Amino acid sequence: MDQYAVFGNPIKHSKSPFIHTLFAKQTAQQMVYNAIEAPLNDFENSLNRFFAEQGKGCNITVPFKEQAFKYADQLTQRATLAGAVNTLKLTDDGLIIGDNTDGAGLVLDLKNNHVPLKDARILLLGAGGAARGVCGPLLAEKPKQLVIANRTFAKAQRLAGIFSQLGDVSACEFDKLSGNFDLIINSTSASLNGQVPPISPDLVNRETAVYDMMYSAQATAFNAWAIDHGARLVIDGLGMLVGQAAESFAIWRAIKPGAKQVLNELRHNLAN
Ligand code: ATR
Repeated sequence: MDQYAVFGNPIKHSKSPFIHTLFAKQTAQQMVYNAIEAPLNDFENSLNRFFAEQGKGCNITVPFKEQAFKYADQLTQRATLAGAVNTLKLTDDGLIIGDNTDGAGLVLDLKNNHVPLKDARILLLGAGGAARGVCGPLLAEKPKQLVIANRTFAKAQRLAGIFSQLGDVSACEFDKLSGNFDLIINSTSASLNGQVPPISPDLVNRETAVYDMMYSAQATAFNAWAIDHGARLVIDGLGMLVGQAAESFAIWRAIKPGAKQVLNELRHNLAN
């Protein structure tokens, strides 16, 4: 049977096997999907073994996305722009294609939540790997502007430079942010420690939609902060997780699974 997997380290708590097994059931695909903990110094050999033994495709997560980028024989344009790969696919010709579905997953979830992107003023907080992965797909939706703000300003500037051809992209320091944004996306890992990037609460009002790429059973620290300051809508990253998985699944199996049922089940599991 066709084998799929997610590679990471650690990987024990990955929800990908649950998600893809449900997708396979939903779309009647004969396949299995496992979680594989690759040794930190042996990722490439783990992949070699996987593809030598029925492996048809895999997801890649922390800390291997940049290594997967180097491993691929060919890269999609969005993976090249992201500088990282979260999806590998073995073609019938024996080539390994590297793609990145993270940004598409975010855009899908924003659309499922009816957040307009065209002509929107978007503020992206953070300029690490997670931020870089979503800039291209966000800009493809033709927002009015994308402002990237980061604790280390030079990284925001670098990211703005990479994507400047794709739209109105600029970099800003946290304490210089002002004006109105329709959508604020938090890609920083500050939430992991229950912290919120030091930005003015005046950036949030009743018109603002807020998206935290992190997720948790209760509101994330960033979303709780945004609710306190009157945000119109707050969304966490669970839907992005399902969205990127749905995009990967479609790349491998040429059939697009529905995100809703899986998302509902995950949300239920998270709460219990
Ligand atoms: P990821 O792949 O999750 O993006 P990363 O590449 O290490 O991880 O990037 C983490 C991001 O979170 C960076 O933008 C980082 O800011 P710096 O570039 O200044 O390091 C940001 N970040 C982490 N902790 C933060 C905090 N407490 N406040 C604000 N930003 C934080």
